Amino acid sequence: MANYQKQDFPTDQVRRFLEPGPVVLVSSAWRGERNIMTMGWHMVMEFEPSLIGCYIWAENHSFDLIRKSRCCVINVPEVKLAGKVVGIGNTSGRECDKFQKFGLTASPGSRVEAPLVDECFANFECRLVEFISRYSLFVLEVVKAHVASTPQYPKTIHYRGDGVFMLSGSNTSRYRRRFKAGNL
Ligand SMILES: Cc1cc2nc3c(=O)[nH]c(=O)nc-3n(C[C@H](O)[C@H](O)[C@H](O)COP(=O)(O)O)c2cc1C
Repeated sequence: MANYQKQDFPTDQVRRFLEPGPVVLVSSAWRGERNIMTMGWHMVMEFEPSLIGCYIWAENHSFDLIRKSRCCVINVPEVKLAGKVVGIGNTSGRECDKFQKFGLTASPGSRVEAPLVDECFANFECRLVEFISRYSLFVLEVVKAHVASTPQYPKTIHYRGDGVFMLSGSNTSRYRRRFKAGNL
């Protein structure tokens, strides 16, 4: 059954197998300035309250804006925005307004100061609950969520490293009846 031929693999590349949650756009604002960054390193930490852990590199302009404002919005794009997602990840908000540069629409958040990216099918308004400096880990609580009712399964992009995106694909409910209720 287990007939994989395995080789040693560099530990610093292991992320390529574990990363693939959807790549998101994180929008933030502080004292009249607004920004967007691309983010792949996030994880669900709790569902009630709704907590998301995010790694944000200290060199990123968003790092300062989110720490100062203590809020941000996690926006989930579909594959049609992939070119802009890469461009936003290549650009620093210190040099330009990325909403303007990439032709994206900012609309006001209802619970946080940070703007929503309208072109994304889901927007999660977050407050910063804790910052763990040792790991540059931002623990965010989703305090308001806006999600489009269609498509039911949006075509999201998932980073595999080395410039390769995996696109979300087919679904199966074949194993659903095997789940215990608490895991659904
Ligand atoms: C696919 C992709 C995923 C990324 N994931 C992250 C991430 O998880 N954390 C991070 O700090 N930067 C990540 N980046 C890099 C930032 O998006 C990039 O440094 C950006 O220029 C930061 O913008 P800012 O300086 O305006 O905040 C990623 C970039 C790409 C293209």
